[in-house]
Amino acid sequence: MSTGFEKDRVLQCRPPMRTAAKRSTLVSWIDEKAHAELAIVREAREKQVYAYFREFETGGLHTTVGGQPIINFSSNDYLGVTNHPRVKAAAMKAFDKYACGLSSSRVQATTREHVELERGLARFFGYEKCLTFTTGYQSMLGLIAAAADKDTTLVLDSYSHACILDGSFLAAGTPGRAPEIRFFNHNSARSLERILKTRERKNALVLVEGVYSLDGDVANLPEFLEICDRYDAVLAVDDAHGSGTLGAHGRGLAEQQGVEGKVPVLMTAFSKVFGGIGGALLGKTEVIEMVQHNARSFLFSASLPVPIVAAVTTILEMLETEGKALVRELHQKRDYFRGKLVEAGFDLGASSTHIMPVMCRDDRKALFMHVALFECGVLMVPIIYPAVKQGEQRLRVNVTRGHTQEDMDKALELLKTYGEAFFVLSGEDIGPLEA
Ligand SMILES: Cc1ncc(COP(=O)(O)O)c(C=O)c1O
Repeated sequence: MSTGFEKDRVLQCRPPMRTAAKRSTLVSWIDEKAHAELAIVREAREKQVYAYFREFETGGLHTTVGGQPIINFSSNDYLGVTNHPRVKAAAMKAFDKYACGLSSSRVQATTREHVELERGLARFFGYEKCLTFTTGYQSMLGLIAAAADKDTTLVLDSYSHACILDGSFLAAGTPGRAPEIRFFNHNSARSLERILKTRERKNALVLVEGVYSLDGDVANLPEFLEICDRYDAVLAVDDAHGSGTLGAHGRGLAEQQGVEGKVPVLMTAFSKVFGGIGGALLGKTEVIEMVQHNARSFLFSASLPVPIVAAVTTILEMLETEGKALVRELHQKRDYFRGKLVEAGFDLGASSTHIMPVMCRDDRKALFMHVALFECGVLMVPIIYPAVKQGEQRLRVNVTRGHTQEDMDKALELLKTYGEAFFVLSGEDIGPLEA
């Protein structure tokens, strides 16, 4: 197959001659620090393998970058409905009514639309109460800040997302309220039990992700719930990637694993299936109201723009009315793509979902794969050290309902071609780069 890309261009790229940067005489420590910290970014740009902050020229899974058509396989638009005409029409109608901002935080900038969305989410996920935040990240910060104090041990999976880590570290730095923070081995029930048994504080809040965003594996909720129950701990699940994608109706990992209604606190994000930005916490009325009246990430940040609320509400309605069909289609594509990747011999790590990291286990392999695929119109973002441990480098590959058969087959063909060219499939060392 002609891919239109020459591997030699990547393998032989050498840094261009450096022109001495003109430095101002007023160079402070922060300029020096920035220059030193950016060494790796400069090197990647010089070698033409810098892979991040690509500028999309349209929305959707099929976009262009620099005028070149690109199929995005690193998107979290898992149901492919972000750009649906109904979603856009709802956002535009809300824009006419409210414009883009409400100029304040929810305390004095709540609309009927915010409250109706919260009611709808509570109904869909089966909780008493829901509170929406301006980002998913802030939802988790808010939960942890409101729930944790000096009587609390925060128990974190060692692969926790930044919002769980940052929320915990922020809580630990709060004068007079600092909780204990403990980590358990990723997805290990035994390790979780050991931590709960040896905790120092009375109240334990266990924080896990439903689907791990980089690995595509899932928590074992029934097992974790049983352990939490035995050790009088509360489980909170960040199901940002499971909401709308798992379970027959898209109600997430709890639906898939048959424990709906049993997870005490659920967090979800609108930046994936729900087509916008924002997040939500769901739980019992008083728990959510405690967060509402205490969480600084909620109280001291502007409220979610109403066009976004309208878009999320529309996608929620789609999930309620046609969720089963949408999710089924996602699962069919996931199964097809996974089957072909496995057949070709790719290592997908521990993934069992639509998030299928293609493990390269080497920075250069991941970067070269990315560049080669990108030049052929397929975006798969490389995740390299230090974002992941050495040996865990991979391409971020998410299959969505919005990908067509042709998209998937093109991506599979290119992955095979370059997986061989860059020794991802064989696992051999990539060897010296420059002759
Ligand atoms: C597991 C997980 N939790 C939380 C977030 C944060 O969500 P948001 O992008 O809405 O801040 C993300 C997004 O990266 C995520 O992957």
